[in-house]
Amino acid sequence: MALHRAFVFLGPPGAGKGTQSKRFAERRSVAHLSTGDMLREAVSRGTELGRLAQPIMERGELVPDDIVVRMIEERLDGSDCNGGVVLDGFPRTVRQAEELGRVLESKGFGQPVVVDLAVRPEVLMRRLTGRRTCSVCGEIYNVYDAPPHVADVCDRDCGKLVQRADDRPEVVEERLAAYERQTRPLTDYYRRLGLLETVDASAAVEEVRRALEEVLKRVEGRDGRL
Ligand code: AP5
Repeated sequence: MALHRAFVFLGPPGAGKGTQSKRFAERRSVAHLSTGDMLREAVSRGTELGRLAQPIMERGELVPDDIVVRMIEERLDGSDCNGGVVLDGFPRTVRQAEELGRVLESKGFGQPVVVDLAVRPEVLMRRLTGRRTCSVCGEIYNVYDAPPHVADVCDRDCGKLVQRADDRPEVVEERLAAYERQTRPLTDYYRRLGLLETVDASAAVEEVRRALEEVLKRVEGRDGRL
């Protein structure tokens, strides 16, 4: 069943947005758009955008709103987005959320479903410093809680697992601070619009997945549009 709307995943760094949103998009056969992945790809390709974003990301700060809004607006024109999209890591400021509302309306989407992955802060550092990502397919692992069968090798395609440059503890501190300053206010923004759903994401991956499906069913029951 395709979603004919945007499904927004909010939550602090390490909440599990990537882990859950990629699987969610796969299950529903809709596009998965991660602004973090898009920016990292631009950095690794050495494009103008990548050269601009790299030092900002290495400091753990947010890339300017205009840049990420333009990136998402262009990406939403892709034909793979016609059936709906899962947004991972966007929006991240109230300004981005306002712009997203405008863009979605202009492209004929309904109101987004917004899920906040709420996590106990003490688990975030362990999740982030333990994260490893497949350099080929992007599959996400954790050396403590979700290790691959063979160390540093992806179970799916045998790609090499790498650690993200911004998962060093000192950068993680700044990312968490940026989240508190600029992104947490989004929960109030979406709550006021009546769009916010909250899932306890401190639980194990499978439990969070089930809770997400429950949320979706509830939204479906409420407005019959999913
Ligand atoms: P981005 O890539 O979006 O990073 P983030 O928001 O900091 O989130 P993470 O990817 O670190 O965490 P996640 O919630 O996806 O967790 P994951 O599933 O990987 O952004 C990076 C940078 O790009 C930003 O700092 C900024 O500079 C820039 N940027 C991106 N978007 C932007 C925007 N819109 N505006 C401006 N700048 C932007 O899981 C983490 C670990 O936990 C993994 O090891 C996983 O295996 C494990 N895990 C997940 N769930 C569980 C669970 N339930 N139990 C146990 N372990 C779990």
